[in-house]
Order: sequence, then structure tokens, then C-alpha cells
Amino acid sequence: MVIQLRRATLEDLPALLALEGRCFDRPWPEGAFAAELALPYAQVWLAFDEGDPRPIGYVDFWVVEGEISLLNVAVDPRARRRGLARMLLAKLKTEGRAVGGEMIFLEVRRSNEGGLALYRAAGFEQIGIRKGYYAAEKEDAIVMSRALDTDGAVG
Ligand SMILES: CC(C)(COP(=O)(O)OP(=O)(O)OC[C@H]1O[C@@H](n2cnc3c(N)ncnc32)[C@H](O)[C@@H]1OP(=O)(O)O)[C@@H](O)C(=O)NCCC(=O)NCCS
Repeated sequence: MVIQLRRATLEDLPALLALEGRCFDRPWPEGAFAAELALPYAQVWLAFDEGDPRPIGYVDFWVVEGEISLLNVAVDPRARRRGLARMLLAKLKTEGRAVGGEMIFLEVRRSNEGGLALYRAAGFEQIGIRKGYYAAEKEDAIVMSRALDTDGAVG
């Protein structure tokens, strides 16, 4: 794979939704992505494999007063375990640093073993639990964080 990353715009919304549908059992709806793409402090980056116009991964994060909130990172099932999420998290760090980010925070479903493994490999540590955060399934969220400048396994 020869991967290129670029920032998403509103024109990418249909392709982003299609990717989301391939990645999640409970995909975000169109309105959620439209809102993200309009927020001045949100950044959505897409990953493309050379020659394929469809994105194969994305990362969505906010930077507000030094705090980076990682909202989502997802990779097309066909492209997993090849380092793409690593690459997207490295992009988050580069861009987050460029706009003054210092700490990264995220929430992940307790049942999401792949997500938890990725974040642990990326140097995140658990800092708390939000009971029943995912209300529809009454599932807990694991809250994780890491400083931007400490060395983790990723980026
Ligand atoms: C989680 C997800 C983003 C990982 O993407 P990916 O491109 O396959 O991840 P990478 O190849 O960059 O993996 C980096 C490291 O994370 C860990 N990791 C990633 N996915 C893993 C899995 N399913 N099981 C165990 N470890 C995993 C490994 O340590 C891996 O390194 P290795 O392959 O050298 O062992 C992908 O599985 C996905 O899109 N899942 C659905 C969406 C999701 O749950 N997103 C995260 C929560 S919002």
C-alpha cells in the first residue's frame, strides 16, 4: 500500500459515510459527520491507497485549548493490521502539535478489544471509566489519555 493522507471536506461526506458503514456496526449518521466537518476546531483526515479514490481510513479529532479529543479512528476491514491506524494517529500528533495540543484524550467501548489494543500500543493509559456512557447499550466507556510529547509505540 502507498498511503496518502489529506484533510476531509464536505465533498468527502458520501465517501466518508460509506467507509463508516464498512467500519462500524453502529455507524455515525450523516449529520454527525456534517457537523464535524463544519467545526472550526475539528480535523478529519482521510487515508487513501494510491490509485483508489475511496478512502480506506479516517481519524477525527478536536483541538481545544491544548486538549486533543480523539473522537474516532477507523480503518476499512480490508486494510487492517497494516499500520494504517498508527499512521492516522501519527498525523493527529503532528497536526495537534502544530495547533498547540498537549494532551490527548479519548473514550472507547469496554468491549472494543481492537480499539483498546491499538490505543495501548500507541501509549495511551486508562484514566477512568464512564459508566453506561454508550446509553443505547448501557455500555461503559474506558477513558484514556497520553501526553503528546512522551514516546509511545506509535508516531
Ligand atoms: C481499531 C482499528 C482502527 C485498528 O486499525 P488498524 O489499521 O488495523 O491498526 P494498525 O494496523 O495501525 O495497528 C497498530 C497496532 O495496534 C494494535 N492492534 C490494532 N488492531 C488490533 C486488533 N484487532 N487486535 C489486537 N491488537 C490490535 C496492535 O498492537 C497493532 O500493531 P501490530 O499489528 O504490529 O500488532 C480498526 O480495527 C478499526 O477500524 N476498528 C473498527 C473501528 C474502531 O473500533 N475504532 C477504534 C475505536 S473508535
